[in-house]
Order: sequence, then structure tokens, then C-alpha cells
Amino acid sequence: MILHNMNKVKMLEFQQRGDERGHLVIVEGNQDIPFEIKRTFYIYGSDPEVVRGQHANRESEFVLINVAGTSKVRVKDGEGNEAVYCLNRPHTGIYLPTMVWKDMYDFSKDSVLLVLASTHYDPDEYIRDYDEFVHIIKEN
Ligand code: TYD
Repeated sequence: MILHNMNKVKMLEFQQRGDERGHLVIVEGNQDIPFEIKRTFYIYGSDPEVVRGQHANRESEFVLINVAGTSKVRVKDGEGNEAVYCLNRPHTGIYLPTMVWKDMYDFSKDSVLLVLASTHYDPDEYIRDYDEFVHIIKEN
């Protein structure tokens, strides 16, 4: 069931384990986030005017964490609803389920955006055309 996956988007607060040596944040698959982690990648060096993402995924779920700096994520459900989330703390993430459209933008110069994914990379499960995404949502 694809519809209303927007409702599953949520901010996640991870426990900060700090002591005099600094902070430590732990993210365990299927414990701190709702999937087993198969892939990680990170995005840095994007200018503030850059928009990344601009796709939906049929199979992949993601958690995005700005481990340094800040960025924003705009999520759309393809039915006219959208929400914007600010990623601005290393111990806060956003959970993105399958079949939501996402744009990442407003990257600070020092932004390092860590992405945890539930799948190995498969370009065929990416929907990169917004009209196609809307069409698929409508069909469902
Ligand atoms: P892209 O999906 O455009 O990045 P983003 O959604 O984060 O803006 O990916 C950029 C390039 O990297 C593209 O050629 C595909 C490749 N890529 C992989 O090979 N494996 C991956 O896991 C990801 C996310 C991208």
C-alpha cells in the first residue's frame, strides 16, 4: 500500500552519549531506526543553491542525519501535500519511507549529510520524474 506514506515520515531523536571526551551517537538498524541498514552514503560540499534528491524510491527507506552543518528536506506525497524538515543537530534524523518525493536543499557550507538506506543501490527503483511519481500515486 503506497498511499499516505507521508504520514510515516518522522523525526528521530537519537540518544547522545557524552562525556568529557565529547559526544557519541549510536544508530543501530532495527533498533534506533525502523530498518536494517544495507548501505550508507554521505553528501558534502553542496552549495546552498543546490537541490539534491529530487526523486522517490519504490523500495528504499532512508534515514538522513546532518552529522555536521545543516540542511532542509522537503517531502511531497504527490497529492499536493508537502512538509519541510530542518536537519540541524547531529543526534536528530529524519525517517523517509518508500514512495515519498524528497528534495534536499539549503546546505550549509559545512553540511555533511549522512544517509542510511534499507537497500543496496539499484537505479531502477528510483523514480526521477515528478509527473511519473504523481501518476503512480494516482494509480494506487
Ligand atoms: P543521486 O541519486 O543523484 O544523489 P542524491 O539523491 O543524493 O542527490 O546520485 C548521484 C550519483 O551517485 C548517481 O550517478 C548515482 C550514484 N549513486 C550510486 O552509485 N550509489 C548510491 O547509493 C547513490 C545514492 C548514488
